Amino acid sequence: MSDWTHRHVLDLAAFSLDDYATVLELAQRFRVMPISGARKLPALQGRLVTTLFFEPSTRTRSSFELAAKRLSADVQSFSPSSSSLSKGESLLDTVRTYVAMGAELLVVRHRCTGVPAALARDLDASGDRVAVLNGGDGLHSHPSQGLLDLFTLARHFAPEAPTPEALRGRRIVIVGDILHSRVARSNLWALTGCGAEVVLCGPATLLPEAFAQFVAAPPPGQAQDPVARRGSIRVERDLAQALQGADAVMTLRLQKERMHQHLLTSLESYHRAYGLTHARLASCAANVPVLHPGPVNRGVELSGALLDDPHRCLVEEQVTNGIPIRMALLYLMAAS
Ligand code: CP
Repeated sequence: MSDWTHRHVLDLAAFSLDDYATVLELAQRFRVMPISGARKLPALQGRLVTTLFFEPSTRTRSSFELAAKRLSADVQSFSPSSSSLSKGESLLDTVRTYVAMGAELLVVRHRCTGVPAALARDLDASGDRVAVLNGGDGLHSHPSQGLLDLFTLARHFAPEAPTPEALRGRRIVIVGDILHSRVARSNLWALTGCGAEVVLCGPATLLPEAFAQFVAAPPPGQAQDPVARRGSIRVERDLAQALQGADAVMTLRLQKERMHQHLLTSLESYHRAYGLTHARLASCAANVPVLHPGPVNRGVELSGALLDDPHRCLVEEQVTNGIPIRMALLYLMAAS
């Protein structure tokens, strides 16, 4: 296992191939261990993990909390609606309050891009030895989701050895609302970082052509790309064309809460053009899996029958894999 250098985990753009290998190797160990109930690992005993979710969540928050408990950490969670934010306390002072109580690992979700990174900078500047893990910020990044999707795909292609190599040369199709999706952005860094060929598919209103260049340059603030040779990204408007030769298909939720204009003529027409169904997948090999990060708009991004088909759909597997991935992240960050 390589040395871990990330005190904060804010964006997969900062991950090297070794980082992906480290996380996947550790997650696989946790995935196959019989850990539940009273059987916990002592790795984070006496450490305090605090989840600060300023935006709703079912999967991410619960699985971080479960992951922390399985590593024997103390877990504290913050609810904005019943907090003193409503009395005018600032975000940073709220976070500092939790740090004063002993929080060492903060999992932060916010609807605005850059909030976890800004908190990490402010805490670093004041000398606090606190690690910040981005639980999803605006349209920008959702690193633990990108990693659990990578892990799910690697386990599908190579169940016994789910390493980044399992992704090399694989054609992964991502369909839908790419524009508003932090999951898509994290997946683009992770999948191309492991050598996959990504095909993006969606209408022009939800998938600007510029996404083909998404990983062409390191993001602002990063001098160089930590991955020497990335896979590729192609934009395809027609779903039948995109599905040709696919090894896996990921579809994304239409993020209606982030759409401030009429970007679709109707949900029905979107489903007709881009919704996944058994019939639409008939041109793919029978073992091509379907992923969705959730929450799902049933009958829009994919049909109810496909969502409920355990032979085809890995949505529940993704949720299950979220726990060992988040255990791996907390373990590595607590040790660094
Ligand atoms: N995939 C995801 O982030 O789900 P939640 O919003 O339920 O956490």
